[in-house]
This record gives sequence, structure tokens and C-alpha cells, in this order.
Amino acid sequence: MPNEKALGKKVSRRDALRIFGASGAGFTLGAGGATLATRYAAAQDVENAKSNALDSRVPFFGRHQAGVSTPQQEHLQFAAFDLTAEKASEVQDLLRSWSEAAARMCAGEPAGEENYETFLPPDDTGEAFDLSAARLTITFGFGPSLFEKDGEDRFGLAKKRPAALAEIPALPGESLDEAKSGGDLCIQACADDPQVAFHAVRNLARIARGVAVVRWSQLGFGRTASTSKSQSTPRNLMGFKDGTNNIKAEDEDLMQRHVWAETGDGPSWMDGGTYLVARRIRMLIEVWDRVSLDDQEKSIGRHKYTGAPIGKKEEFAPLDLDRKDEDGEPRIPEMSHVRLSRQSENERILRRGYSFTDGMDVERGQLDAGLFFICFQRDPRKQFVPLQRRLGQNDALNEYIQHTGSALFGCPPGASKGGYVGEALFEGD
Ligand code: HEM
Repeated sequence: MPNEKALGKKVSRRDALRIFGASGAGFTLGAGGATLATRYAAAQDVENAKSNALDSRVPFFGRHQAGVSTPQQEHLQFAAFDLTAEKASEVQDLLRSWSEAAARMCAGEPAGEENYETFLPPDDTGEAFDLSAARLTITFGFGPSLFEKDGEDRFGLAKKRPAALAEIPALPGESLDEAKSGGDLCIQACADDPQVAFHAVRNLARIARGVAVVRWSQLGFGRTASTSKSQSTPRNLMGFKDGTNNIKAEDEDLMQRHVWAETGDGPSWMDGGTYLVARRIRMLIEVWDRVSLDDQEKSIGRHKYTGAPIGKKEEFAPLDLDRKDEDGEPRIPEMSHVRLSRQSENERILRRGYSFTDGMDVERGQLDAGLFFICFQRDPRKQFVPLQRRLGQNDALNEYIQHTGSALFGCPPGASKGGYVGEALFEGD
């Protein structure tokens, strides 16, 4: 964050405690010798630190879970969990503990109360003690297998499963690895500091011990979308601006129409929630890097440097799909990614993905890198699935990408203070 950079140091959780603590000690200088100027500078530092510490916190509680329409951060730690619990009450206890710890961490506090019992492990693993909240958001989701797994209704929740939480059918052009797909529960932790995001998932996994185990996880660096008009458009690993035509939080009517589940869409416990689809998309970047600029642009349908639609100069110029060249060919090619992604207004989604690299693919001698695609929508059966079916069949990008992981989660609405995310699922019939 710019102010932190100006300060030359991070605003630690301990600093924040000191600054906001009852003693007010943070405002006084050490004994004697300080000139008026240094005193003033120190007071300014404290003021800056105070506003930075506040700026870096995103409220955990609210009508919707954070991490969907809140401005996208730079780093991701995503994890899917398999439940080992046998009773619904154990799942409830886990969700309650997760929300409590998540609320604390999003406020820049340790996951649990500091304990000084030297014969017990601490209630927080510690690696984020000196870091700011870094705009941490923690978003919880429920996979289809929470409701029914191998035909078994493990927790008596089968009748509460929303129709929209139907398994994603097999789609063209995918080569999915089971070990990087699915899961009963998920945690999406996003922050501007990768250590803060990692710390959140690590501590939540620790809290889950004996009830749930990590099935797979994915680290993401560098956002590949913008979710607010106040953000600039970032670039993906193909070097193109990504997120230009994304739904933005300020488009409240689009958010309402395409992202948030509404009363009457399905069971009421999902009202105000949304559905998350995650796809691990490997990019064959060595192949892509040998493709001419012209072909790269024709595959996407936009210019590489500006992000403008082909034939236009401005990034945000409207995508005119009817425009033809002098030779009668469509300006935005038939098989281009943006044309195929923009076929139906009803399929619009909010994208919130991240670039990833998992080191080398030793067999092929290539980098294992790509896009960890995440999108949110009101009903994946009507949005992601038809969209990806079309892309999987015809997208010019298919030569350079491969979907290797897939997961779907229903993210319930946010919790109010004292409550926990997913509480309504366990209430009533
Ligand atoms: C590695 C894979 C992918 C890459 C590199 C990629 C890249 C891009 C780029 C560069 C744009 C143009 C800028 C923008 O408007 O954001 C774009 C737009 C878009 N992409 Fe992708 N994308 C990928 C996968 C997907 C997938 C899997 C979906 C959905 C199933 C998708 C849906 C969309 C949509 C809806 C748009 C906006 C189209 C419009 O309204 O103009 N993309 N993508």
C-alpha cells in the first residue's frame, strides 16, 4: 500500500493494537531529546499508520460474504476440504469456529486469543503477527458433496441442496485431475500480502483438525481481473489485459441480476449468497510465446498493448461484434475468446481469478503455470456451464490452454456479528 511504502515499514498487528490500545502509548515519544520536527514526523507516522491499519481491513460480517464484490486483492490462497466428521453438529461447530477466527484475522488480529500456556501450542501460528490485515477477505463455500457423496446423505442435508449446486457436467477440452478438483468445503483467502492469505488458510486448516482435511490447495499471485471501477485492469500470463469487461461492484443492477442468489432462486439459506466455480487452467505458455502478435490478438479479439477491441484504440471502447473489415470478415474473429464469451447477456459472470505457477512440468520440460479461474454467479447451470461449453468447443485459445482442475461451491450469504457463515443451512427443515 502506498502509504506503507512511504513509511518504509508495514503496519503490524501489534502496532495497530498499540495505536488503538487504551494506553495511547503509541502517540508518545521516548524520553527526552526529540526535536519538534521529529516529534511532528513521529505523530504523522502514527496518524498514517492509524489510517493504514484501518484501510487495510475489510469487514468480515455483512449481508454478503466479502471476497466477491469487494475490490480484488493481489494474492490468493485457495483450499478445498474433505470432511472427516460424521455428524452435522461437528460441521456446525467447525463453521462457527471458522467464522470466529476469520473475523479476527480479517480485523488484523491473531486467529485466537493470545495464550501464554507454555505447555500448549499457541492459538495462532504466528507468521502474520507483524503484518497488517492486508485487506484480507475469507470466503467460505459448500460443495455438492457436502449434501450427498456417493449416494449417501452423510449429514441429513440432501433435501437442502440447491438445484443450482448440481455437479458441473463433463465439458469439452478438459483433462481434469481428480486430486485438484471437488471438495466438501472451500476457503478462498485473498490479501495484498501472500503471507497473510497463507496464514489464514493454515490457521483455519489447523482449527479443522479431526473434522476436515485439505483435499487440494492453490496459491495465486497477481489478480487477473478487476472487480471495481477504481482498480486498473491487470494482465494475465498471456500478457493481455484481463477484466476489462468484467462485472464491477459498482454495477449494482448487474450484480443483482447475475451474481447474488435471490429469494425464490432456491432454498432460503442461500438468499444473498452466490456460486463459485474454480477452474485450474494450465497455459502452454512456451507455445503461446512463439505465436505472432497478430495471431495472439486474433485469438483474444483485443489488442495486446492497449486492451482495446481489435480495430479500436481505447481499452473500454464498446465491443462491436457486428463490425466487418473491407473484405467482409468480422473485425473480432468468429473464434476469438471475447466474441465467444459475449454471446448471451444471460451468461454474464463476475470473474475473480489469479495467475499461478506450480513450478516445472518435468515430463514436458515446461513451466506449469496459468490461470486459476474463479467466477461468481447466480446459477452456474445457466452461466458458467453453457459459456464454457461454447468456449471448450470453439475458442481459439484452446490451442494454448488446458483445464486441469474444476470445483463448484455454493457460498452462503454473509454472517452478522455473533453468527456464522452457513448458519441458516442448519436451521429448520
Ligand atoms: C486461460 C484462460 C483464459 C484467458 C487467458 C482469458 C483471457 C481473457 C481476456 C484477455 C479477456 C478480455 C478482457 C476482458 O474483458 O476481461 C477475457 C474476457 C472474458 N473471458 Fe476469458 N480468459 C480465459 C478463460 C475464460 C473462461 C474459462 C471463461 C468462462 C467460462 C472466460 C470468460 C470470459 C468472459 C465472460 C469475458 C468477457 C467478455 C466480454 O463481455 O467482453 N474466460 N478473457
